[in-house]
Amino acid sequence: MRDLLITGAALADGTTGDLGVRDGVFVPAADVTDAEQIDADGLLALPGLVDSHTHLREPGREDAETIATGTLAAARGGYTAVHAMANLDPVTDSAEAAEYLKALAGRTASAEVIVVGSVTKGLAGEELSEMGLMNRSAAGVRMFSDDGKCVMDSLVMRRALTYAKTFDGVIAQHAQDTRLAGTGACCHESEISGRLGLPGWPALAESVIIARDVELAQLAGGRLHVCHVSTAEGVEVIRWAKARGVNVTAEVTPHHLYLATREVESYDTTFKVNPPLRTDEHIEAVREALADGTIDMVGTDHAPHARQDKDHPFDIALPGMLGLEQSLAVVLEVMINTGRLDWPTLVERMSYAPARLSRTATQGRPIAVGEPANLVLVDPSARAVVDRDASASKSRNNPYHGRDLPDPVLATVWAGRLTYRR
Ligand code: DOR
Repeated sequence: MRDLLITGAALADGTTGDLGVRDGVFVPAADVTDAEQIDADGLLALPGLVDSHTHLREPGREDAETIATGTLAAARGGYTAVHAMANLDPVTDSAEAAEYLKALAGRTASAEVIVVGSVTKGLAGEELSEMGLMNRSAAGVRMFSDDGKCVMDSLVMRRALTYAKTFDGVIAQHAQDTRLAGTGACCHESEISGRLGLPGWPALAESVIIARDVELAQLAGGRLHVCHVSTAEGVEVIRWAKARGVNVTAEVTPHHLYLATREVESYDTTFKVNPPLRTDEHIEAVREALADGTIDMVGTDHAPHARQDKDHPFDIALPGMLGLEQSLAVVLEVMINTGRLDWPTLVERMSYAPARLSRTATQGRPIAVGEPANLVLVDPSARAVVDRDASASKSRNNPYHGRDLPDPVLATVWAGRLTYRR
């Protein structure tokens, strides 16, 4: 691997200097020889972003995404690591499945793939999966989630939190009470869902599960992570739990920060997602919570789907939308450009906090001599109209298609290797 010399980049704290990269770590710029040079004058260098929530679809649905295409999309979005959710086929519910995924990633990935195990066998919500064996396997799993499905059974959730605690694991919950929504819910329950004749998810379907889970986390003394918080009520419960000292973290997706439920008036199934897009009051609440730290991090919930799974009536199309490539653009637009977040805090929310979630030592580290060489070079002022056909993802369910947004990522370096350069 050739040395890299990155000249003139500014760091998030405002200091400017030259960066050397050798053998996967940052070294003094004067130490590199015969280096590939990158002129980063006027650019920001941020630690590589870490996604707390990615669906890679391999193994099982390689027509929608592979590890290669999903992690290339990650690199183009400035990410150097992704947490690969367990709703694969086969489900990541055993040490063998976890090790298989890690080995596949070792051959084809353009970013570190952090394996997430399922909470229950086959995501069936009944019997705990082999969490301890996955943890002790070569995949070293430290995060568990049935994401895509809510762990509805309170006793199963209590046991999962209690068990994972024994090896400092975290349980990441998809908080949506399916019993409260009834069958067929496919968008946010509001005036719009009523007018369109689409069954809706009430906001409370999220907050009642979060309320139950923070109580269980306190009882068990375990670590709880709330995936894709999308409601003002959910934010309030997390704020309350944190004030009481509950060991809980939370993430918000770029789409819940930016897109509103009015998008579904087009019946375009790109905008069908779980949890659903909400109304402006909820969007304001999650932005505020990301700014004040009630929500700890951004997780994309990058959910590629093949055309044949989206080209259906709204109520039966599969839920999910892409996120990795436009995540930084959205956070820049709604949080930095509005003065709600500064760059050091963005680094905390998009790199440090998600790496800490799974105790991933190789990620979420500052740009400094001796640290792993993971970084993204950013031009905060560049803009472009998003073109879904220019995506590295295999799927085209990009909700930002046709929108004018920041276009900040110029290059990404993972473990000393250039994984993307525009
Ligand atoms: O809309 C969603 N799609 N939400 C999830 O939590 C899962 C995801 C998927 O896997 O498609």
